Parts: sequence; C-alpha cells; structure tokens
Amino acid sequence: MASQAQSDLAHGGASGHGARHVAIIMDGNGRWAKKRFLPRIAGHRAGVEAVRRVARAARELGLECLTLYAFSSENWKRPANEVADLMRLLRHFIESDLDEFHANGVRLRVIGHYRALDPALVDLIEQAVERTSANTGPIIAIALNYGAQDELVRAAQSIVRRVQSGQLDPEAIGIDDVEAGLDTAGLPPLDLLIRTSGEQRLSNFMLWQAAYAELYFTDTLWPDFDGSALAEAIDAFRLRDRRFGGL
Ligand code: IPE
Ligand code: IPE
Ligand code: MG
Repeated sequence: MASQAQSDLAHGGASGHGARHVAIIMDGNGRWAKKRFLPRIAGHRAGVEAVRRVARAARELGLECLTLYAFSSENWKRPANEVADLMRLLRHFIESDLDEFHANGVRLRVIGHYRALDPALVDLIEQAVERTSANTGPIIAIALNYGAQDELVRAAQSIVRRVQSGQLDPEAIGIDDVEAGLDTAGLPPLDLLIRTSGEQRLSNFMLWQAAYAELYFTDTLWPDFDGSALAEAIDAFRLRDRRFGGL
C-alpha cells in the first residue's frame, strides 16, 4: 500500500509532509554482505544501488535536500583495501550517474573535508558540483571525509580569520556566523535524520545541524533501503510534535 507521503504526492502536495531536508547515515553494508557470505565490497556495491533508488525517491517525494553520509573522517581507520574500494565506487558513481542527476535538475553538493582526497577525485567532484550548480531542482549533498567535529573546527578557523582581518568583532559573533562557516551553509535546516542498520548513534554526523532534527532509527540495512522505506520515515516524521523549545 502506498504510504501517506507517497499518496500526498500523488495528490499534488509535493512537500505536504513538511520535510525539506532529510539526511541519512547509510549504515549496514558490511552486515548485509556478511549475511550472504559475500565480501564487504559486495555490500558497498549494493549500497550504491540503494543510493540511486533513494535519490530518485527523494525527488519524487519533493524533498529540497537529501544529505547522504558516504565516508566519515573516521572511516580511514578501515583496512586500506576497503578504503580504496569505497573511493573507486564513489568515482564510478559520479561518472555513471551525473548525467541523470543533471538531466533531472539536481544540484550536487559535497560536505566534508573532500579536498584531502586523491587529487584526481577532487577534480572530478569539483567538476560535477560545478556542472550542476546552476540547476534549480533538489540538492543531493554527499558527505565525504566528513566529520562534524572537523567541520566545526574549520568553521572556527574561518571565524578567526574574519576576526583577524578586522571584518568581525569577537563580541558580535553569533549563531549565524558559525552556520555560515559550516559545509552546510545555504542548505535548508535539517528536519529528519535517519540511520539504518539498528545502530543508535550519530557517529560524528551533523552534530550542529541535528540540534532540532527529528531522529529516526530503522533496523533495515542500507542496501535494503528504498523509496518506500524513505516514505515510511517521512510518514513517521509528519506525526512528530516539533516544539523547538516552545509549546
Ligand atoms: C556503511 O556500511 C558504509 C560506510 C560506512 C562507508 P558499513 O561498511 O559501516 O557496514 P557495517 O556497519 O559494517 O555493517
Ligand atoms: C557512519 O557509519 C559513517 C557512514 C555511514 C559513512 P560507521 O559504520 O562508520 O559508524 P560506526 O563506526 O559504527 O560508529
Ligand atoms: Mg557501519
């Protein structure tokens, strides 16, 4: 049966569910593979298929922004061959899917310290972001070499530079100045943060942005996640009573 979010959409309410920005901690690729006696890379490949399905669904559900946690600043702790596999999959994904994103008006964004990645990959990422930058459709933001603590440190550095150059008075620093220094500057406020695979932690993802996001945890492993799973999460979101500290 179609979910409420899907049927609202069918009746013309592109974003009647009220979720503008959804972010997902895409977890469980390794366990998905293990259950099938497959190598972890098979789980990551299946995870890329899930990204394709969910990116399409996000468009159909009328989201303004979908942010996907693809590689954390802590994922370098993994064996070198797994890191290399993930980087290769990322490169292939951009090469194979950018045309479809572009044709659908999607704007690609990257958050995280991606400039520390392999220079050829950095070039590919920057070209892809540039190519879609004038589009007017939904934003797909990929978190690459992303850690919220690192993002906040970099935001602090940019504030210090503004103070040192005399552009900003330290006493006048406000929440907006921090937000302007974050990788997510200009993105809509985060409404819903989903984590798959049953873990209930943020793993250094969007710590600042999650201040008033609704959290949704599902046992579904990321490679099994799809458009109806996203619609289900959005249905749960619309039943939440968001108060932002008020009544
Ligand atoms: C998520 O799946 C993908 C990345 C972190 C890149 P995992 O690789 O963390 O899968 P599990 O948690 O081991 O099942
Ligand atoms: C979080 O998943 C990072 C991504 C999904 C990219 P992890 O699998 O790395 O998180 P932990 O290690 O279980 O906290
Ligand atoms: Mg994991």
